[in-house]
Amino acid sequence: MPSIRAPASKQTATLQVAVKCRPLTDSERRRSRHIIQVIDDKNVVVLDPDLSKDYLELIQNRTKERRYSFDHVYAPGCSNADVYKNISSTIAGVVQGLNATVFAYGSTGSGKTYTMVGTHSDPGLMVLSFRTIFDLVKKDDSKDTFEVSCSYLEVYNEVIYDLLEKSSGHLELREDPEHGIMVAGLRSIKVHSADKILELLNIGNSRRKTESTEANSTSSRSHAVLEITVKRKQKGQYGSQVLRGKLALVDLAGSERASETNNSGQKLRDGANINRSLLALANCINALGKQNKKGLAYVPYRNSKLTRILKDGLSGNSRTVMVATVSPADDQYHHTTNTLKYADRAKEIKTHVHKNIGHLDTHVEDYKRMIDNLQVEVSRLKMELAEKEHQLSVKPTEKAADNELSWLNILSQETGENVQERINLQKALFELEETNKRNRMELQHLDDAIARQQVNDKDSAVLQALTSRRQVILDNIRDNDEAGY
Ligand SMILES: Nc1ncnc2c1ncn2[C@@H]1O[C@H](COP(=O)(O)OP(=O)(O)OP(=O)(O)O)[C@@H](O)[C@H]1O
Ligand SMILES: [Mg+2]
Repeated sequence: MPSIRAPASKQTATLQVAVKCRPLTDSERRRSRHIIQVIDDKNVVVLDPDLSKDYLELIQNRTKERRYSFDHVYAPGCSNADVYKNISSTIAGVVQGLNATVFAYGSTGSGKTYTMVGTHSDPGLMVLSFRTIFDLVKKDDSKDTFEVSCSYLEVYNEVIYDLLEKSSGHLELREDPEHGIMVAGLRSIKVHSADKILELLNIGNSRRKTESTEANSTSSRSHAVLEITVKRKQKGQYGSQVLRGKLALVDLAGSERASETNNSGQKLRDGANINRSLLALANCINALGKQNKKGLAYVPYRNSKLTRILKDGLSGNSRTVMVATVSPADDQYHHTTNTLKYADRAKEIKTHVHKNIGHLDTHVEDYKRMIDNLQVEVSRLKMELAEKEHQLSVKPTEKAADNELSWLNILSQETGENVQERINLQKALFELEETNKRNRMELQHLDDAIARQQVNDKDSAVLQALTSRRQVILDNIRDNDEAGY
């Protein structure tokens, strides 16, 4: 396996968007027409089932078909493994310190849970992903050590619960300048095999809120996020570095139109909350898609817990895959075109990917330990030297002793200089990390201030000043990264 070096700069990545069409269910087969044609592995056509459009077609030469192109399109006969083949390299990056996000997006009953969790005979992307991760860890023939941990949460009615806790309380989101969005108090369990994660996934799923609705007998009423973190420790000449890759696998709750269901009471309230967060997600996708074409646009992440959790996956440090799931049934036409509209917009979204190398805390702790060790080494050498000098000064007349003394003096001076140089180097790295931490905090404040200016104050002079200060900070961070590695 090639050794890993830290790239100093970020790389821009484009969201990978796939569309997966499920087969008609038995009951649909009796009452619905199939309106989706998968042309090839990248193109899909949706037929408008509204026959009155025939007239329009005749007089305006309009077509009732709409054609869409995506990175990948999967026909009803495709398995989850077929989808997985095209995202496995993104998942493998997690073992090299890169972050990844995979989420299924689509209306209720379109096959999101089937795609993410799957069945025994057709395991979903969650299961296939952690199998890959453990395969790679097992096959790795470097001297690196790995630690894999996993957490599983759900967002139900805008409240976050830990699916790996028997009776989880309400958990809160925290924004950490160093680690981004975090869920305070969420359990992260160390795992040593794919089977163990599968067990945790099954336990979590049994706790997840599902309900039988008109559209889907096992409809997910909460958004679920399975997060797998791989910490890879590499021992180098000057201490160890840690690569930390994070994989978020997301199964969204089912969106539906209240008018299409007979829901009432709690079910209706659940539906309203689900729709609110999915609308927030759709708005973020819209704004991010626009941003790429028309420059900076305000992205309303703060409108729901779901979008705050997905922020990194949508615009931060992550290689991201969106699997848009659709049903081929004619009565789902509006849902299908809606899903494809957002999937189409999502193709424009860019993220900024870089390896997560080391951790400030780890570095600082490592540096402190190294400096302590070096200082102990210096004082031991000094003591040895003093002892030697003392022994020689007892018999100063002999020539051999003179030679030994001058040789020892040179050696001691060289050792002292060498050790001092190493201490200085460690201190410089330590200071570099501190400066970077301050820079990143300022960057966060500037981003917030820019967003506020764009939405509320709209003072172009202030905005320009903030934007140019942001560029200065970004340049500083880049220069520091280059200096540090
Ligand atoms: N590729 C597939 N092959 C066979 N059956 C499928 C496939 N995809 C989905 N299904 C079936 O379709 C139904 C709905 O799927 P699923 O529960 O995954 O939808 P969903 O998008 O998660 O819905 P919700 O948003 O309500 O949770 C299920 O009965 C599921 O087994
Ligand atoms: Mg579901």
